[in-house]
Order: sequence, then structure tokens, then C-alpha cells
Amino acid sequence: MKEAPKLNLTNSMKEFEYAKTLIPGAVAGIRRPYNFVEGEYPIYFDNGKGGRVTDIDGNEYIDYLCAYGPMIIGNREEEIDNAVIAQMQEKGFCFSLTQKYQNMLAEKLKEIVPCAEMSFFVTTGSDATTLSTRIARSYTQKTKIIRCGYHGWHDWCVEVKGGIPKKLWEDVLEFEYNDAEGLEKLLEENKDEVAAVIVTPYGHPLALPMEDPKPGFLEKVKELAAKHKAVLIFDEIRTGFRVSIGGAQKYYGVTPDMAVFGKAMANGYPIGCVTGKTEIMKEVEKNVFVSSTFFPNSLSYIASLKTIEILQRDKILEQIWEKGEYFNGEIAKLLEKYDVGARISGIPPMMFITFDKDEDGTYKAKRTDFYTQLIRRKVFLQPYHHGYICARHTKEDLDYTINAIEESLQYLREKYYK
Ligand SMILES: Cc1ncc(COP(=O)(O)O)c(C=O)c1O
Repeated sequence: MKEAPKLNLTNSMKEFEYAKTLIPGAVAGIRRPYNFVEGEYPIYFDNGKGGRVTDIDGNEYIDYLCAYGPMIIGNREEEIDNAVIAQMQEKGFCFSLTQKYQNMLAEKLKEIVPCAEMSFFVTTGSDATTLSTRIARSYTQKTKIIRCGYHGWHDWCVEVKGGIPKKLWEDVLEFEYNDAEGLEKLLEENKDEVAAVIVTPYGHPLALPMEDPKPGFLEKVKELAAKHKAVLIFDEIRTGFRVSIGGAQKYYGVTPDMAVFGKAMANGYPIGCVTGKTEIMKEVEKNVFVSSTFFPNSLSYIASLKTIEILQRDKILEQIWEKGEYFNGEIAKLLEKYDVGARISGIPPMMFITFDKDEDGTYKAKRTDFYTQLIRRKVFLQPYHHGYICARHTKEDLDYTINAIEESLQYLREKYYK
């Protein structure tokens, strides 16, 4: 199997060097080259349409990272963009008082998300997770938080602790996904101190295989949180609107006290939300202060309402599940056939190809080679983060990708198993 030729990335590299003189780190955290394969992936995109994106050197890719989650339908979705443009041109969106669209969105969430009795809207996923823990602390009058998963960049939960006094995160404890015993132990050790348990309802640990909830796991988490009078929060920032229109809570049939949504809520427009039981959410009326200049801006509400309308009208999630089932199934067959120590995990709307650790660390080289061969074939997947299927990925896109994966696996087979 011939090696695919390296892409021309001249403009990306030039722009990156220039950016280093203007912006610390040049591009933000997870978008830095070391999160991909350095020197092989583009660093700047120019445009996107549907499930495809084009970099500033003119290379066009099938995009399975979907902007790290927001692109649930696809780029430049005309119906959504036109609704936003109409709002800009006919009414405006940034005022000293609120327009009515947040009521409409809160009502919609109440209709589709099991735990959504009342909602509060913010701009990012990190805003939402932080607000949810503040509400839970106020409601329970307790301090400690037990968490599982990535919840954003704010002081209480970010992994890299630079610039954050210990007192801002020392009351936050962690347990592993699917480890109900570990959670129980933490709750017992911190009796009467835990305000909230916040957990992603599906397991998506960084750079590791994704995890289905073990039978009974989510139910047990709910039972334990209730027993210890801690608020149960599902972090649905990735699963929201993707696993089902009502979130993973609807799909798995376990309703938390509160949930946070973001990413796919508005097909790329910035919005996040905390939603949950009235009694808990009402803390925001008096005891919890939350206000920000841009929270009430209407464009993202308009985009979210339109996104939900399309998701429901066109049965988008059924389409995504169908595509994902086919895609993941074909990839699984190839991984079995070529047997290079890689596997696919996840569920149809979100999947991840990872390499099993081996003693001499060859898996790292195999991973680098595999993702290098894929990007050279214009398939944009990330070596350390799972991918997503969006509605505008076509059957041809999927088949092209399956073929590119087969060629990349053949390359590995020949290189590592002579
Ligand atoms: C599960 C989860 N929670 C919270 C966040 C934070 O969201 P944001 O990056 O929009 O602040 C993320 C972002 O990736 C996430 O995946």
C-alpha cells in the first residue's frame, strides 16, 4: 500500500507562526497542533458547507470533528442562518431588556427534555456547568461537588491548575465513569457535605475508548445522589440533542434533577443552558446571582429554536443514528480484518477509533501513522477525541471514509506486521 502524499499546508503553517507573535499559544488549547499530528493537520479552516470543511490552503475534508460537537446538522445551514439574518435585519438582537425568545426556548425544552421544568440560558457549556454547581450548592447549603467527566475550563473543574488557588477546587472530588462503588465511597467519606454529583451520562474520557453505561450504573448514581441529598446533574453538553432530542437522559430512561446543555443546541451558534426541577432552579430567583451582558442576546435563541424545529421535522436524529450504525459497523469489520490493535467505541452519533496500549509503546506510532494516513486522504478525525456524525454527511462521504480507513489500516498492517 502506497503512502498517501503529504498535504500542502503552507498557508496554515505561515499563519500559525504569525499568530504566535500576536496571540499566546497562537490558537486556543484543544485546537493547537499537538492535539492532532503536528505538521500533518491544517491549523486554519477557511470555510465549510454541510459535512465538509476547507482549509486556507484549499484542501477540502470530510469533517467528523464537527467543531467539537456543535455541528449537528451541518455548516451553513440556510434555514437556520436565514432565521438569524432575518432577526438581525428586521428586529435586532442586543437590547437593555429581554426579547421573548428565551420563553419559547424554555417551553420547547420542557416539551422535549425529561428533567426540564425550568431553564436558564447562558452562552457556553462552561457557563452552564458552573452555574449548575452554584445552584446546587445554594439549594443544598452544602459545599462539595463530586464530578465525572470534562466540564469545561472554569476554576472548579479544569485539569490544568495554573492560576487557580487551591481553595477554589479542593472541594471538588472525582470518580471514574461506571464506578458506582467509587462514587458510593466518596459520598460516604464526605457524608452531609456533598451538594451535587455531576456526571456525563455517557462515558467519553479524553483519549480513551468511549464507554456505554453499564447496566444499572446511571440508576445507581441517581439512587446514591438521592440517598445523600445531593443534586444529580447530568452534563449533557456533548450528548444533548445528539443521543436523542431529549438527551441521553431520555435515551437511557434516567431523569436527573438538573442537566446542562450546550454545543449542538443551536447548530454552531453560542448557547448553553441549565435546566431542571422547578424547586431547585428557583434558587436563581433570589439566592444565586447570574447575569451577563450577552446572555439575553437573541440570535442564539432564534438559531436554537430553528435547529430544534429542523431536528424534529426532518427526523434528523434517526438519520444520524442510521448513518452512524452503518459507519461504525463497517469500521468495526475493518478493524477486525486488519487486526492492528485498534478498536472503535461509542454509539452511532459519536464514535472513536483508539489504539490499545502495548508494552513498548508502539501503539503511539501506529496511532500517529493511522491518523496521518487519514488526514492525507482528507478525512478530518482527531487522534485524541471522538468524532461525530452530522446530518449532512452523505452516504458517499461515509463510503469514501470507510475506504480511506481501509487503506490506512492496510498501510499499518504492512508497516508493523511484516
Ligand atoms: C461534557 C462537557 N462539558 C462541558 C464542556 C464545556 O463547554 P464549553 O467548551 O462550551 O465551555 C464541554 C466542552 O467540550 C464538554 O464536552
